[in-house]
Amino acid sequence: MLSENKLILTTDGSHTVLNSGIGETYHSENGAINESLHVFIQNGLSLINKTEINILEIGFGTGLNALLTYQFAAANNKNINYFTLEKFPLKKGLVKQLNYTEKLSVDNEFFLKLHDLGWDNESNISPNFRLIKRKSDLLDYNFNELKNIDLVFFDAFSPSKQPELWTKNIFDKIYNAMSVSGLLSTYSSAGVVKRALREVGFKVKRKPGPKGKFHMLNATKE
Ligand SMILES: C[S@@+](CC[C@H](N)C(=O)[O-])C[C@H]1O[C@@H](n2cnc3c(N)ncnc32)[C@H](O)[C@@H]1O
Repeated sequence: MLSENKLILTTDGSHTVLNSGIGETYHSENGAINESLHVFIQNGLSLINKTEINILEIGFGTGLNALLTYQFAAANNKNINYFTLEKFPLKKGLVKQLNYTEKLSVDNEFFLKLHDLGWDNESNISPNFRLIKRKSDLLDYNFNELKNIDLVFFDAFSPSKQPELWTKNIFDKIYNAMSVSGLLSTYSSAGVVKRALREVGFKVKRKPGPKGKFHMLNATKE
């Protein structure tokens, strides 16, 4: 169901991927880079007041969030340990066509290195960016290897398409892997998501969303 992927252009000129099987794009059609910067960098990474930051991403996909994180870390002297899960890695042919490095003025070889790193490997991709990729279904993932996660990029497909991922059970496992004051950022502000996060113990705040979306969520572990 998740295998039919096609590149499309969003309104800020950056690409996203349309999965026609699931009927959803990987990012907002109102700007892929714009959305990722807003939800995960401005309302995520830039709020973490630490030099060494452990990040967990749900859904590696195009690697855009990892690339933006690397760029932010390099510009702001942060050391990042970036754990990312992906059940359906994209084909290399599609990844090579993505225009993110051109739009962000980043070395394309670096971006391809993020994708070339084998699943279930880890690597110091650059002195301040360590990448740990897991090819795993979030539902089966063993969270034991994670601790002191400071920031979570919850970037699965939407709760209407993947309700099984946006549950109290999953958020509970994530919460337990996080450090106190850790932050979870997500583009969804759906009621079911807010409720599940609150049930687990997160303090949930609704924030203005990126272009084309009213809201997004920040959830803090107190
Ligand atoms: C909305 S896309 C965002 C991807 C990525 N963060 C990006 O910026 O390109 C959702 C991602 O979650 C992945 N995904 C879907 N179901 C999953 C599951 N059960 N476990 C892990 N990853 C999953 C999809 O394959 C896809 O890459």
